[in-house]
Amino acid sequence: MARRRMVYEGKAKILYEGPEPGTLIQFFKDDTTAGNGEKHAQIEGKGVLNNRLSELFMTGLNNIGVPTHFIRRINMREQLVRAVEIVPLEIVVRNVAAGSMSKRLGIEEGTALPRPIIEFYYKNDDLNDPIVSEEHIIAFGWATQQDIDDMISLALRVNDFMSGMMMAVGIKLVDFKIETGRVYEGDFQRLIVADEISPDSCRLWDIETGQKLDKDVFRRDLGSLTDAYTEVARRLGVMPRNTSSGSGPKLVH
Ligand code: C5P
Repeated sequence: MARRRMVYEGKAKILYEGPEPGTLIQFFKDDTTAGNGEKHAQIEGKGVLNNRLSELFMTGLNNIGVPTHFIRRINMREQLVRAVEIVPLEIVVRNVAAGSMSKRLGIEEGTALPRPIIEFYYKNDDLNDPIVSEEHIIAFGWATQQDIDDMISLALRVNDFMSGMMMAVGIKLVDFKIETGRVYEGDFQRLIVADEISPDSCRLWDIETGQKLDKDVFRRDLGSLTDAYTEVARRLGVMPRNTSSGSGPKLVH
């Protein structure tokens, strides 16, 4: 059997060459990092949960006409995705003040925002992904004005979809990050949602108790990350058959 070619290895995922041109296989690792890699751990089963949850969110988005790179899940840790040219920007949508925005602007965590706020961060580990303005994005050629308009429109549609889905299971979508990628279709090119959408890239708070069910559990040492992600998966009706050889969440469809 031929060894498949690794295209890229990130902190939490690996991309391999896909079975057909224009496709990639996205592998979800158990590695968990925070603070640009300063804090690092292997959390057994996390990759399985994120693979399954990202599949759920991306499939839902595809079904309502929000284009994503997701094609289909292959197995417990891998999914087939469209190859895209990643735009070097992280798009953050915030419904409630938290995290870096609370710190930067001195707004108490948990303060509801009057409208969703969109921020752009330049994807660059050496610079710790700095926040940037639309002026920077255009001046430095990371994306065009049209791209920015498209990214905002995609981000707001993802926000509406994800907020509703979470609300239905008693979870508040506080904020999240998405990435977009460029695909070429004949003479046209467009942006689609890429990377992953999972509790690694969202803030999810239980509506009743305020309990955190996202990566802040790891960032802030609040308990078991697997338990938190399993709870999200359970409420959404998706539980991996098993996340590891040993114990862990069982069952689904
Ligand atoms: O840290 P900050 O408050 O800016 O994060 C906003 C949202 O973006 C959070 O949901 C966080 O999980 C996500 N994020 C991410 N990857 C990053 C930075 C932030 O998924 N590199």
